[in-house]
Amino acid sequence: MSGSKSVRKDRVARHIAALPPSGIRKFFDLVSTMDDVISLGIGEPDFTTPWTIRESGIYSIERGHTSYTSNLGMLSLRREICQYLARDYRLAYHPENECIVTVGVSEALDIAIRAITSPGDEIIYTSPSFVSYPAEILMAHGVPVPVATKRENNFAPDADAIERAITGKTKAILINFPCNPTGATLSGAALKRLADVVTKHDLLLITDEIYSELTYGEAHVSIATLPGMRERTIFLHGFSKAFAMTGWRIGYACAPADLIDAMKKIHQYAIMSAPTVAQEAALEALRRGGEAKAEMHASYQERRDFFVGGLNEIGLDCVLPHGAFYAFPAIKKSGLSSEEFAEKLLEKEHVAVIPGSAFGPGGEGFVRCSYATSQEELGEALKRISRFVGKIAKK
Ligand SMILES: Cc1ncc(COP(=O)(O)O)c(C=O)c1O
Repeated sequence: MSGSKSVRKDRVARHIAALPPSGIRKFFDLVSTMDDVISLGIGEPDFTTPWTIRESGIYSIERGHTSYTSNLGMLSLRREICQYLARDYRLAYHPENECIVTVGVSEALDIAIRAITSPGDEIIYTSPSFVSYPAEILMAHGVPVPVATKRENNFAPDADAIERAITGKTKAILINFPCNPTGATLSGAALKRLADVVTKHDLLLITDEIYSELTYGEAHVSIATLPGMRERTIFLHGFSKAFAMTGWRIGYACAPADLIDAMKKIHQYAIMSAPTVAQEAALEALRRGGEAKAEMHASYQERRDFFVGGLNEIGLDCVLPHGAFYAFPAIKKSGLSSEEFAEKLLEKEHVAVIPGSAFGPGGEGFVRCSYATSQEELGEALKRISRFVGKIAKK
């Protein structure tokens, strides 16, 4: 049968064919072909999930908990999540209808955007940002509108620039603080000013707070706690980063019931329910994972101080990140684009970093280095980067 008929050329939908591949993936493919690479590329904890959490997953399987859960997720887990948010974030959500358990923040983001976006709606997001944001908006037939954050403002969002980007088609603003890739946090006057813009223009806000436990020196404040914000905010969070649970694929969203209901519709058709074993492990993370979480947090802070100090000594200007586990040094002085810098550093010194341009237009001139790797490797990486930068300077 094969070869008898030609197949149509437009098999892939136009908006999917037009999506650019992730700039991060390209780098990992290159790294996987090389030996002796120190990878500062990957955005995940270098810790294994704490034992008590793994054990609860094993126990869940041993007890034969292998069926679907309710679409929204196990009520016991939703209760625990809402208690956690009430205690640690001063956020009050009802577990019955204002919380949905998802397949990571990735799915929470996807269903949040799809639930609120009609074709042509504009969603403003700060750039540089997590690579999925513009792609998710495009896949929902929305229009992504990036607004740059700048080094001179420590990569905090510029509410005036955001306000200037608002049009009659703007539906929502999407933010992520602490931020991947800059490590910037959002607090005080900047937080309040942004909330004022959102309420003044009657917009929705999606806040991805996946790194919110990983702040250094300042307590995280969720924008959803500010006056007038709870009713217009979709709060996204998960277990991947603070509890070192990336592979379990578990996260959640909290929002007013009408929005959760809309998100549940997509989730029930596309996903059904998040993996049961991961839900049970997540329950354990919230109940008894606090100590391990605190230890990992302390270790990131130590490594941040060491690594960011080292980058600045080398002469790569790097703002001290107050959250997440990324450093975002400027490489403009090298005269190379961020992609050239990353490619050459990998080729000459076998150190993998991600070009800032992969995180959107605001990222050019920087590279992202994850410091969630051992002190020993970070030390060796600094030596190699220093040698690389020294050689470029001599040219
Ligand atoms: C800002 C941000 N949001 C969401 C995610 C996805 O997280 P999850 O593993 O919960 O899907 C990541 C992962 O790197 C991230 O950096």
